[in-house]
Amino acid sequence: MKLLDTINKDNLPKHLAIIMDGNGRWAKQKGLLRAFGHENGTKSVRVTVEACAKLGIENLTLYAFSTENWKRPKLEVDTLMKLLISSLKNELETLQKNNIRLNCIGTIDLLPAKAKTELLAVMEKTKNNSRMTLTLALSYGSREELLNAVKIISNKVKNNIISIDSLDESIINQHLYTHNLPDVDLVIRTSGEHRISNFLLWQIAYAEFYFTDVLWPDFKEDDLYEAIISYQKRERRFGKTSEQIK
Ligand code: IPE
Ligand code: IPE
Ligand code: MG
Repeated sequence: MKLLDTINKDNLPKHLAIIMDGNGRWAKQKGLLRAFGHENGTKSVRVTVEACAKLGIENLTLYAFSTENWKRPKLEVDTLMKLLISSLKNELETLQKNNIRLNCIGTIDLLPAKAKTELLAVMEKTKNNSRMTLTLALSYGSREELLNAVKIISNKVKNNIISIDSLDESIINQHLYTHNLPDVDLVIRTSGEHRISNFLLWQIAYAEFYFTDVLWPDFKEDDLYEAIISYQKRERRFGKTSEQIK
């Protein structure tokens, strides 16, 4: 039996977030430059995006570039930005064909002008698509996102737009870049690293985690299905007892 057939379509994560890691090591293992790893990583992005949409996942968020990744050598950053631009151009068709809306989180003002323009253009062209929201985390850092929310909320409190007494979790949610997304249900990280690397710290409060040694350029449909099957075997208790859940 195919892995896909064992997935319960009624118990999919509503929001799947993926830390796509291991491009550099994939290339190194093959004696290639890191850039080849990133290039091949884009193929896994396409495969994963299409597979998630076909499966019925409503929200997919991909960690593509962190606030910390700006510290990489300039040549690598330039390569990643060029790949971002070409992927946005090439994948518009895939997004339209699959009825996927593109969204982004992060400080996109820091991206090169060309990348930002292309990103906004694809977001605009896909804004009415409704099968799945694909969010790219670009120049994204969770601490920066939280700090930004604190600043906006503080200003509103100072100007009597919000009272301190009315502050609650939903107000914080509304001021995050992810304000239009549900909490993350499942986080997948590839490449054998077991860390969060400043990704969606608030939004993963009750997420399930799935770590795989597979390097991102090798990640394909069956790896995605295995992660979802693992997720579906878990009992999410949210602090309650097992008896309360049943
Ligand atoms: C993930 O692969 C891509 C980005 C972080 C942009 P890496 O480039 O981190 O690959 P490794 O971890 O060095 O193998
Ligand atoms: C996390 O990967 C960021 C992305 C996948 C975009 P990194 O490779 O940058 O993370 P660390 O440095 O191993 O924590
Ligand atoms: Mg890495």
